[in-house]
Amino acid sequence: MDAVQNLEAQCVLQTYRRNPVTLVRGEGVRLFDANGREYLDLLSGIGVASLGHGHPGLAAAIADQARTLLHTSNLFFHPLQGQLAERLVAMSGFDRAFFCNSGAEAIEACLKFARRYWYTLGETRSEIIAFEESFHGRTMGALSVTSDEHYRAPFEPLLGPVRWLPTDDPAAVAAAITRNTAAVIIEPIQGEGGIRPISPALAAAINDACAKTGTLVIADEVQCGLGRTGHAFYAPVIGLRPDLMALGKALGAGVPVGATLINNKVAAKISYGDHGTTYGGNLLACRAALCFLDELNGGLLEHVARTGRHFEQRLRAIAAAQPLVKEVRGIGLMWGLDLTIDAAPVVPAALARNLIVNRTADTVVRLLPPLVITEADIDEALNRLEAALRDVAAKGGPGA
Ligand SMILES: Cc1ncc(COP(=O)(O)O)c(C=O)c1O
Repeated sequence: MDAVQNLEAQCVLQTYRRNPVTLVRGEGVRLFDANGREYLDLLSGIGVASLGHGHPGLAAAIADQARTLLHTSNLFFHPLQGQLAERLVAMSGFDRAFFCNSGAEAIEACLKFARRYWYTLGETRSEIIAFEESFHGRTMGALSVTSDEHYRAPFEPLLGPVRWLPTDDPAAVAAAITRNTAAVIIEPIQGEGGIRPISPALAAAINDACAKTGTLVIADEVQCGLGRTGHAFYAPVIGLRPDLMALGKALGAGVPVGATLINNKVAAKISYGDHGTTYGGNLLACRAALCFLDELNGGLLEHVARTGRHFEQRLRAIAAAQPLVKEVRGIGLMWGLDLTIDAAPVVPAALARNLIVNRTADTVVRLLPPLVITEADIDEALNRLEAALRDVAAKGGPGA
C-alpha cells in the first residue's frame, strides 16, 4: 500500500473498494500511475472522460473560464447556461433543460418534476414503474428506482410505491401501466445492469400505454447518452418517446455536470422555487459541457460510429475464440462481455497487462473507452483484453 492509499485508509470513509492503483496523470486514452506505469483506459472513469484525459481544448477552456468567472449561483444570469440549454434542446428535440451536478441529481430532478406535474394537475398519482437490472444512482430518490436489493435494503423505506417489471415482457408493461402510474423510468441501454439494450418492442409498449394513460416517460441516458452509442441519444434509436431525460457522465468530460431535459407539457407545470441547486449549471460546468458538445458535433459522433464498428468486430472475434465469453452486447463504444464465470478476476488480470476495464452485474466485463479512441488503440487494448481473458481461463477463474 503506498502513502496515498495509506492516508485514504485512515481518513476517507470506506465506501469504495478501489483497485490498488494510484492514478496521477492522463493523456488521451492513456493513464499513468504514481510509479510511471502506463495503462490503456477502456473505462473513462465509468463513461465520463469522453474526450480522453488531458484534452488540450478542454484544459484551455477550463483554464480560461477559471480566470474569467467560475460561479455566480442561480440568483444571477450568466452567458453560458442558456447557450448550453439551447444546444442540448436542439440536439434532443426536448424543450428545456435543468442543470445539476451528477447523474443521480438529474434523476432526482426527473422524479420531482414528474411528482410536480401530477400535483399541479390535481391528481394523486405517485406509482413509478421501474425495471429489473436498472441502475439510476445512489441518492434516495434514484435509489428507490434502482433494482438491486443489495443497494436498497439498508436504506428503506425509500420513495414509493415502485413497481418492478422485467425488460423482456412488453405485454406485462402494457398491463402494468394504468391511470395510477405517475411515470415509467428506463435506461434505453442498461449500463450497470450489464450493458443490456432495451428492445424496440418494449419501447413501443411503454409509448402506447403511456399515451393511453397520460403516464410520463423518463429516459435515463446518463450512461448511454451523448454519443456513447454513436448516436446523440439512444431513446430515439429504439423509438422510445420520453417526456424527461436524465444526462450526466460524458457531458462535462470530467467536470461534474448533470442535466434533465424536459418537454413543454411537463415544463409548463413547474414553477419558480420548485427545484434548484447552488452549483447547477455554473460557468465552469457549462463551459466544459459546451466544449464537449463542440467536439461531439464537430465529428466525434461519426468517429464513435466508425470506431464502434471496429470495436464490435474485434470483440466478436475475441468471443469466437474464447469460450469464457457467453455473449457480446452493446453498440458504439458501450460494450459488455458476458462471461460464463464471475468477471471479477478479469479486472486484475487486465491491470497486470496495463489495461483498465470494469466488472458489472457479476459476470460482465464492461468497456466504456474515451470516445476519442482510435482504431490502433482499440487493437492494442483489445489484444491486452484477449490476453487477460486467456490468463483468467488458464487459472481456471473462480467457478470456471
Ligand atoms: C444509467 C445511470 N443513471 C444514473 C447514474 C448515476 O449517476 P452519478 O453516479 O453521476 O450520480 C448512473 C451512474 O452510473 C448511471 O449509469
